Amino acid sequence: MTDLRALVRPTGVHGALYNDPAVFDAEMQHIFGQGWVYVGHTSEIPERGDYVRRTLGTEPVIVVRAADGVNVLANRCTHRGNLLCQAERGRRRAFACPYHGWVFDAGGALVDVPFPAGAEADRAGLHLRRATVEIYRGFIFASFAARPCRLAEHLGHARQALDRASDLSPSGEVQIGRTWIKHLFQANWKMLSENEADGYHVNFVHDSFARSVKVQGKYSDVLQGDEAGFTAVTRALGNGHTELDYGPTYRRPLAWLAVGPDRYPDYTAAMEGAYGVVRATEIMRAGPPHTFIFPNLFLAETCLVMIQPLAVGQTVNWHTPLLLRDAPVELNRRILRQGEVALGPSAFLTADDAVIAERQWRALLGSPGWLDLTRGAQREQQREDGVVVSHYTDETPNRGFWRHYLDVMEQPPVAVRSAGAPSCSP
Ligand code: FES
Ligand SMILES: [Fe+2]
Repeated sequence: MTDLRALVRPTGVHGALYNDPAVFDAEMQHIFGQGWVYVGHTSEIPERGDYVRRTLGTEPVIVVRAADGVNVLANRCTHRGNLLCQAERGRRRAFACPYHGWVFDAGGALVDVPFPAGAEADRAGLHLRRATVEIYRGFIFASFAARPCRLAEHLGHARQALDRASDLSPSGEVQIGRTWIKHLFQANWKMLSENEADGYHVNFVHDSFARSVKVQGKYSDVLQGDEAGFTAVTRALGNGHTELDYGPTYRRPLAWLAVGPDRYPDYTAAMEGAYGVVRATEIMRAGPPHTFIFPNLFLAETCLVMIQPLAVGQTVNWHTPLLLRDAPVELNRRILRQGEVALGPSAFLTADDAVIAERQWRALLGSPGWLDLTRGAQREQQREDGVVVSHYTDETPNRGFWRHYLDVMEQPPVAVRSAGAPSCSP
């Protein structure tokens, strides 16, 4: 295995980290195979038996609502390894393998084997592999490590971003719909992860978007050439989590939706009823987070994004609107439209980012050498709580990402979770 410490410096990283298949394999083991990975939201599976098909890195899983909570099961039959569930989502009491008909329940137990007289294996030993599950504000995370740290420890300061997204709902929960848009990037997954909190590229890569939206009060402070005038900030939150905070650019409630504070009076009344006037006004002013949660979740303001690595140079970018539970339908319609304009199939942002990531991927093939990540290193400030804050265009998030990356990748491999071990799902 490559010596990673030789490829990550405080001032930059080596391009081989993006294009070496051995590095990718190690990331699937250390980051996606042992760490906490985002797999879905409880609003996607509200009823018993509801499931969605996801992955932990390249490992296919089923996220299913069982009688006693949410389970995340390896989507691989323990007979001869067939993909157990093919549908993207649905509702089932049990999963029947299409190859020889073995049936598993929503807890992963093998409950039926066709032609049982010849079945000699011990059923208990043929349980589906089951991840540890923890849920925060409806966001479901899973880990295949034998003894993962608590999710709260992994999330750290990023919990505030999940709070910020959820608190925009009068009932304190986001609502994920049934529709996802997926873009296949011919690029390494880290190119997407690092880009989510990269404020430096916005004025260049998204210049056409900036000139098209021209919305007063939304992004206006950061779409300009005056470096001293930027009010948005960038942060490395610890544990690889990063963010661009546009909150300082919003000077009135609902500026993040590019509307006036009186546009949705029913929503304002519901929020004031839930949180009180002062707190509701501040929640509606600060707006949604723009926060990347290591390694694969991006709270992209009014959208939610998941990053799915397929291979060293192939990544799927999933996105869906981040709707607000119990908010008036007109407000959610506005969020949906805004998501379409930002990330939808005929919008600018994803296409811009995909082209840049794919060019970066192609340019780094061969002998890529060292990449510079020094921007802002002298002016960033570390707060007492460990969060590092800097100018919107600084590479503070990149440095935070790679610090954590090295910590995780240098952990010795640990025993993976055995089949059938109990979940700590609430
Ligand atoms: S591989 Fe699933 S039943 Fe044979
Ligand atoms: Fe971008």
